Parts: sequence; C-alpha cells; structure tokens
Amino acid sequence: MFSRDLVGGYMLAIIGGTGLSGLQGFELVEKLALKTPYARAKVRLSRLQSAEKEFLFLLRHGANHKIPPHQINYRANIATLAELGVTEIVAVNAVGAIHGDLLPGSVAVPDQIIDYSYSRDVSFFDGKLKPVHHIDFTDPYSEPMRQRILAAIGAANAHTKTGGGVMARGTYACTQGPRLETAAEIRRLAQDGCDMVGMTGMPEAALARELEIDYASLALSVNWAAGLSKEPILLEDIHAVLEKGMDLISSVLAEVVAQS
Ligand code: HPA
Repeated sequence: MFSRDLVGGYMLAIIGGTGLSGLQGFELVEKLALKTPYARAKVRLSRLQSAEKEFLFLLRHGANHKIPPHQINYRANIATLAELGVTEIVAVNAVGAIHGDLLPGSVAVPDQIIDYSYSRDVSFFDGKLKPVHHIDFTDPYSEPMRQRILAAIGAANAHTKTGGGVMARGTYACTQGPRLETAAEIRRLAQDGCDMVGMTGMPEAALARELEIDYASLALSVNWAAGLSKEPILLEDIHAVLEKGMDLISSVLAEVVAQS
C-alpha cells in the first residue's frame, strides 16, 4: 500500500511501454500498489537524480513485460494514477512506422488517433460505477503536453548532439495485437491517413481524457510496419532499435521531469 501523504502529491506520471523497464538517470524511491474497482495496479515513485524531482512511473506491461497489449487493465492503471493525484501523463509508445519520414530510431509526438482495437474496457463511464457520459475527443492528446514533449526532444537532441529525426505530429493507429499486422492491413491504415501503428495507445488516451488528465505520447519508431520493407520484421531487430532508442527516450523524459 502507499503512504497516505503521497495521495495528491505527484502531478506527473510516465507510462512506460516496451523496452522502458529501466530509465537512465532515474532512481526508484518506493514501490506503490493501489486497489481500484478495476484491479490492483503497481506504480513506482521515482526520482530524477539530477534535479531531485519525483514523479510516478507505471510499467504498462508489468515489471517483467508479462501483460500483452490486449490484456492490459488500462482502467486500473489510469484510475490508480488519478487516485494518486496525477494530472499529467507522458505515455511512451513503441510504434511501427507507416510514414516514410519515421525511420526506425526516430521519434514522433502524434496529434491524432484512429482506434482499431476491440474488446477492451474503454470507459469509466460504464453506467455502473459512473453514469454514462460522452467526452469531447476531437483532439485526443493534450496540446500543451505535446508541446512540452517536443521542447524536451529539442533540448535532449541538443544535449546529446544526436539530432535524430522528429515527427512533430501524426496519426497513431491502435491495433489489437498482440500479432503484428498483415501488409494489407498496413495499406489500409496508410489509406486511412495513419502515420504510425502501435497496440497500446487506446483506450489509455481516452481514459486519461475521461479523468481530465493532460495526456500525450512520446512514440519511438522501432520498425517499418508490415509490407513496407523487404526485410521480415524480427523481434531481435526491434529490440536492438529499442535498446538504442532508450538513451534518447531517457533524456527526453529527464527534460520533461526537470521542467515539471
Ligand atoms: N505494429 C503494431 N505495433 C507495433 C509495431 C507494429 O509494427 N511495432 C511496434 N509496435
């Protein structure tokens, strides 16, 4: 259980995705677990060493990456963060690249979503615990939070002098997973206007909006989506890109936390 004085004390949370189990420059302060009506969710109170700033860190796939995208209890995760007082979330998402500019290893801060996932618990407003309600989701991500992430990417690139590619907006397609897509599915997503594809962006973003949390995504391209490269999509290649990309992701997150 968490200490009572933690409730309401932390505004910023980072939700880590695939490859983000350990962040450089951050240390664990305390492991917390909170019971919600949806399930128990685990959160780590973490500290950015260089700035003595604390924030909450939640691993979407669990500590040992045992929870596949379609089985994540998104409601428990978001309800837990809200209960602990979180008002801002940076979500890290690994994505497959559809847009030609999104080279594996580069990052994007999407501004739109198309949700192709299904059979997930998509709302707190289920008519049971909360009355039926319809949120405005015209712009699914918080623009101020997107701008903060973009500024942090700029600062991190300047520090590391890596100067990697950045896509400042784009449409995120959320597929069901856990399998990757067929080439025809990716052609359809491209025709729909999608620039990147992942499996965990939804319903997370909508649930955050339902609880009025400012939410935006820092997406790391880890492969060309199905059919867009002559090479097969190999998990070991994805992991190699993820491992390399985590330096940049850690620096970007450090900037966001330092500015929080
Ligand atoms: N498709 C869906 N999700 C992903 C991919 C992909 O190609 N790469 C990383 N997450």
